[in-house]
Amino acid sequence: MSGKPLYEFAATRDWPGYFAASAGRPPRETLLAALDLFEREEPIDAADPPMAVDLGCGEGRDTAELLRRGWRVSAIDGHEDAFSHLQNRTDIAAWDRLEMRLSPFEECQIPRCRLLNSSFSLPFCSPDYFDRLWRVIVAAIEPGGRFAGQFFGPRDSWAKLPDRSHQSRDEVETLLKAFRIEQLTEEEREGADCTGAGKHWHVFHVVAKRV
Ligand SMILES: C[S@@+](CC[C@H](N)C(=O)[O-])C[C@H]1O[C@@H](n2cnc3c(N)ncnc32)[C@H](O)[C@@H]1O
Repeated sequence: MSGKPLYEFAATRDWPGYFAASAGRPPRETLLAALDLFEREEPIDAADPPMAVDLGCGEGRDTAELLRRGWRVSAIDGHEDAFSHLQNRTDIAAWDRLEMRLSPFEECQIPRCRLLNSSFSLPFCSPDYFDRLWRVIVAAIEPGGRFAGQFFGPRDSWAKLPDRSHQSRDEVETLLKAFRIEQLTEEEREGADCTGAGKHWHVFHVVAKRV
């Protein structure tokens, strides 16, 4: 691996490069927080595992954790290489609880689910289709289910790219009006790559329960 930061691959939508550089990374904190909240409420029923959607699953860092913790998973991504990486993972045993769907966010159907996890992926939906995608997400999550993931804010460096969907804090709160917010952490910081070129991060980390 070159040591190039992950975000440089994401900046240019070099998803094969991103997947290769993501190998071995741990699950996202927002996913872990949501799973802990579920486990505090009710134990996983192995005879009838709950359903999670991992939207923009990438090479499967979150999908693998969901399967390890007993969930059924519908892993959705718009790049076919995501699924070849997923299928080559050595930390997945429960293949019978995983389905993989190749679909762009802009026209995806989302199955009914207890958890909709979308880690660092929603900003890559075309802005013309974001409202439609969010409606489909909200409709898919059962009452008492959760959303976990990130929205990117207007001060993020990528907000000026025309094909990205970024939201202000007020807009995030409006999107979450059908939810009880359990975590809404706003992160704003400078990142620098190995050449010194910077990226300003403005990210909302969210865990929210569907009412
Ligand atoms: C930054 S990666 C995040 C991957 C993983 N969830 C993670 O946390 O590392 C964004 C993912 O969204 C997918 N993606 C980007 N734009 C997409 C689109 N318009 N439709 C479907 N998938 C898309 C990419 O293929 C990639 O897997």
